[in-house]
Amino acid sequence: MKIIILNVIVITFFMAACSPKNVTKMVDSSKPDPFIEQLISKMTLDEKLGQMTLYTTDWESTGPTIRGGYQDDIKTGRCGALFNSHTVDFTTRLQKIAVEETRLKIPLLFGYDVIHGYKTMFPIPMGEAASWDLQAIERSAYIMSKEAAASGLHWTFAPMVDISREPRWGRVMEGAGEDTYLGSRIAEARVRGIQGDGFGKSDRLLACVKHFAAYGAPIAGRDYNSVEISERVFRETYLPTYEAAIKAGAKTVMTSFNDYDGVPATGSKYLLTEILRNEWGFDGFVVTDYTSINEMVNHGVAKDQTDAGIMAVNAGVDMDMQSAAFQEKIKIGITDGRIKMEKIDASVRSILRLKKELGLFENPYKFSDKVRESNTIMTKEHLDASKDMAKKSVVLLKNTGVLPLAKKPMKIFVTGPLADDKNNLIGAWSASGEGRHCVSLYEGLRQHPASGNYTFEHVKGCEIEGTDKSQFNIVLEKARASDIIIVAIGEHKDLSGEAASKTMIRIPGVQEDLLKALKATGKPIITIIMNGRPLILNEVEMNSDAILEAWWLGTQAGTALADIVYGDYNPSGKLPMSFPRHEGQIPIYYNHKNTGRPLNPTDKYTTKYIDAPNTPLYSFGYGLSYTTFTYSTPMTNKSSFSDADQVTISVNVSNTGNFDGEEVVQLYIRDLVASVTRPVKELKAFKKLMIKKGETKKVEFVLSKNDFEFYDQKW
Ligand code: BGC
Repeated sequence: MKIIILNVIVITFFMAACSPKNVTKMVDSSKPDPFIEQLISKMTLDEKLGQMTLYTTDWESTGPTIRGGYQDDIKTGRCGALFNSHTVDFTTRLQKIAVEETRLKIPLLFGYDVIHGYKTMFPIPMGEAASWDLQAIERSAYIMSKEAAASGLHWTFAPMVDISREPRWGRVMEGAGEDTYLGSRIAEARVRGIQGDGFGKSDRLLACVKHFAAYGAPIAGRDYNSVEISERVFRETYLPTYEAAIKAGAKTVMTSFNDYDGVPATGSKYLLTEILRNEWGFDGFVVTDYTSINEMVNHGVAKDQTDAGIMAVNAGVDMDMQSAAFQEKIKIGITDGRIKMEKIDASVRSILRLKKELGLFENPYKFSDKVRESNTIMTKEHLDASKDMAKKSVVLLKNTGVLPLAKKPMKIFVTGPLADDKNNLIGAWSASGEGRHCVSLYEGLRQHPASGNYTFEHVKGCEIEGTDKSQFNIVLEKARASDIIIVAIGEHKDLSGEAASKTMIRIPGVQEDLLKALKATGKPIITIIMNGRPLILNEVEMNSDAILEAWWLGTQAGTALADIVYGDYNPSGKLPMSFPRHEGQIPIYYNHKNTGRPLNPTDKYTTKYIDAPNTPLYSFGYGLSYTTFTYSTPMTNKSSFSDADQVTISVNVSNTGNFDGEEVVQLYIRDLVASVTRPVKELKAFKKLMIKKGETKKVEFVLSKNDFEFYDQKW
């Protein structure tokens, strides 16, 4: 397919853009490094395969640990990298074995899933994406890396950049949602935050872009399932986020568990060599996901581990996570010529180069400083940044005027299973984070300076799951005696994340019943949702006067929410993913095609359901504010333009309400007449800006040729 440029566009505003300038410097891997070459020349085949092997320690694991005795593997040089190993004490102990007891003294590389915080937890990535604030996202990625690097780590398995249109898939909590443009900018911001522009500094980690590729598109939203999408959708919707992360300098890539078009990603030469290395010029190393080499036997493309391991190496995998296939099985492939020795050397070279760039050969304990560890973790600065990010991540879905709370004496009744919860606030994939460090909503409301205006009552009401309604009577008694009700409901942290696909994406248990019962009291209700994925919120919408989508906000959840409830912060988040009305609408996403029979409510034979609207309850890009914004008609600087031109689009945005507020100005285009069908709307730029009440700001965007490109017909 070739890329062509559209010539008829419609530009619509909704909100604006940031471009990735601070790209991490790429090493010139074409030049041989004498130190590395000399080292490789001394290595036995076992030692080479050891460098290509990554094992978990028994600290904790996210899947079956198929091999114990990792300490012996380190000693014999049969394992060059470990994950789930952190803290200065533990990593120092392991590093000592590598650099003092092995023949070649090659330092170990320590990895970990530091996804949205190491000890200071930030909102889950889906929540951060709702901020549309690239600087803040970069800063939280930096802080999590700084804390992790101070605790002996070198490498994080982040950013996860899988675009997904599948709220049934639990892993949407780890990503940036459904949109390729927003997802790409966030991918770049996260890579910059993790690696910095001075890669190898002791406050930065090595990033790992995952899961390559299209892991976010499993059929029916079931985790690990196959991906069957057209090459056009694959390239236009799913691939750009990975490419953006790599162009931003990400040095490692993780393969995905799924097969795409019949080929498991871990054995796909098309993905790992043709696209990643040849098309995009990636010069780092590729690691598999957990045991995904062995899983190629289950996929039915390899007869055994040996076959699978050989397939993986030849496809372009450099490091085997947990399969033990490289270490134990593939030597025969080298002897019988199915694997070329140069292939092994190339993998070892790229792994050793990164160890060298990290500075580990100079000082294997560079990341192992106990004083730095204790001075860096959970500092006030980090907690403040976490609170700031949490405030920015909240999306106001509904408000009849009850928020922010009036500053006058009122009795507040706080209820719901998540109202005084801490453990769930850290969310899934919470690294070393601990619930006990979190500020619950109830604590946050009472600790805030504005709390003096109010009196508080709290009853949990019910559990997140289960059928017990025994507390409902006391809840209703307290509710009737109050002036306003704040109810926090949602998901347990294990209900989203890996291996947490669902067919029903409803608020579990009797939580909605609790809300309905509260509604019958006639008191105003503010509902705060804490969750990891888009949920069906029809009942919540009907039974609440205000709704805040608060995700799992991290360590400072309660203090951030209190600022919003009391009006110290005006919510500015916008949804990064559509919230359906019904599971039957899934996959549902804003940038769908028009079809030949676009929806016409009065014509049965147009594209629609006969039992539900086509639209989601809350769409991608949606989010309210305590103030209101109005937009002038957008203007372009020219009415027609050629390939070489740039087009400037401007719009005046006015704050017409009673609060200062931030608005996310979003620019969408539509190609009305193209050589292939195009989406009804495509985000191409956005800008988040503060506009004071009564103020008008002019917002400008510049688009050029590549913003209008797409793939034309193959034939
Ligand atoms: C997940 C990866 C993760 C790895 C290591 C796998 O199960 O899919 O995202 O990085 O485990 O923990």
